[in-house]
Amino acid sequence: MINVNNFVSQEELLLQEKYKSQIRRQIDGKGLCAFVYTLGCQQNEADSERIRGVLRELGYRITEIEEEADFLLVNTCAIREHAEKRALSIIGRFKHYKAKNPDIVIGVCGCMTAQQHRSEQIKHSYHYVDFAFGTSLMHRLPEFIYNALNKGKRRFMLDSERPQIAEGLEIERESNYKAWVSIMYGCNNFCTYCIVPYVRGRERSRNMKDILDEVRDLASRGYHDITLLGQNVNSYGKDLEGKPTIADLLNEISKIDGDFMIHLMTSHPKDASSEMIEALSTNSHRTNHFHLPLQSGSDEILKKMNRHYDIDRYLSIVDELRAKNKDITLTTDIIVGFPGESEADFEKTVEIIKKVRFDSIFSFIFSPRKGTPAYEMENQIPEEIKHTRYDRLCQIQNEIANEINQTYVGKEIRVLVDGKSKNNENVYTSRTEGNKIVHFECENDYTGNFINVKITRADTFALYGEKI
Ligand code: 5AD
Ligand code: SF4
Repeated sequence: MINVNNFVSQEELLLQEKYKSQIRRQIDGKGLCAFVYTLGCQQNEADSERIRGVLRELGYRITEIEEEADFLLVNTCAIREHAEKRALSIIGRFKHYKAKNPDIVIGVCGCMTAQQHRSEQIKHSYHYVDFAFGTSLMHRLPEFIYNALNKGKRRFMLDSERPQIAEGLEIERESNYKAWVSIMYGCNNFCTYCIVPYVRGRERSRNMKDILDEVRDLASRGYHDITLLGQNVNSYGKDLEGKPTIADLLNEISKIDGDFMIHLMTSHPKDASSEMIEALSTNSHRTNHFHLPLQSGSDEILKKMNRHYDIDRYLSIVDELRAKNKDITLTTDIIVGFPGESEADFEKTVEIIKKVRFDSIFSFIFSPRKGTPAYEMENQIPEEIKHTRYDRLCQIQNEIANEINQTYVGKEIRVLVDGKSKNNENVYTSRTEGNKIVHFECENDYTGNFINVKITRADTFALYGEKI
């Protein structure tokens, strides 16, 4: 089932091992530490866990305090302009560290740096940055660091022509009970607003055996929450020999022992098959949550977005999910102000939101991304209109979410405890199997464990309860 072209070659990985041992020798005993700043989605979080794994192997101590770091890396996002602005401002802030200590190494990676215009901007306007590289070159981090430590030329690499998967990189996981497992990388869909296919390359799936080994290992180490990650996990396996599907993968995961839940992030409605829904709903590790990005409630806008489904199809998937699991919580992504979106188009989105009654929506104001078709489209929507529509959508959704959350009051539910609430002593934050946030008071710390709580109160954004 292995498509060898999907993978970085053994020779390349061995070469990186050589750089690793050279760096280890070079920095041994110096007590150097590394700081990684992560912006963006779960895929970036997962990439940063790999990066930290490699950094630890090199001999760096990982620090959360940027002022003390000898190596600083920003893992950037490009999905909206705001994310890029934040990345540039963080990179800007690193300038004075290098001014104080020229031996400090500074790198930038992730989606923003995979774009030529941004890579050049960093090269020319941020002279203290030693290297930048695109998302698929992560396995070459040892080479880039070695080069910088030895005062080689600054390196600015976009993505490789044909991005490949590097298996076997160390992972330094942030949590000991929640884990991301990437099952595929890249995207083939070219939704007209989205930069992802340009910065993360075409879809490539990991071998099913490698994924199952990883899940088995996590389960045996007591992980309780595992999210299978990919830009469109529903098209998993299409590029592998034998074409295993996401349903096949879920069915195999179902056979693995352990007390853990499986989430999918993210599913594209055009590829949401009945087999996948069946494999999820019958899974021994099933959750009560499904995220299904809608993007717009107007068929015409969906067409312009190149989404390959219409509202009828979307609603039929919702019906199917609810028929299999009546308690399922549904969440979605919505873009407001896509070019050409009329008042009538926007009203259709509102209508669908009211009809489906999502538990929550992630709504985004359309942000034109250079290099995507929507950037060039006529009838760009003025900022004020975008903001008015965004506010209206949030208001409507907030009411719906509040109404749904009230129905939980009085119920007893199992939650996975996430840790102490930031603002309140003895208050803990947790998630239900439907991925709803529950705050509860407790004298003991059950972080990382399942417990049962009784819901006593609810609002738009969370449920509140007490431990039973
Ligand atoms: N502008 C606004 N939102 C976007 N998204 C993707 N690209 C853009 C863009 N250019 C949103 C989509 C996607 C989510 C991850 O980000 O809703 O599902
Ligand atoms: Fe972007 Fe569409 Fe791919 Fe999602 S499916 S990453 S929105 S191109």
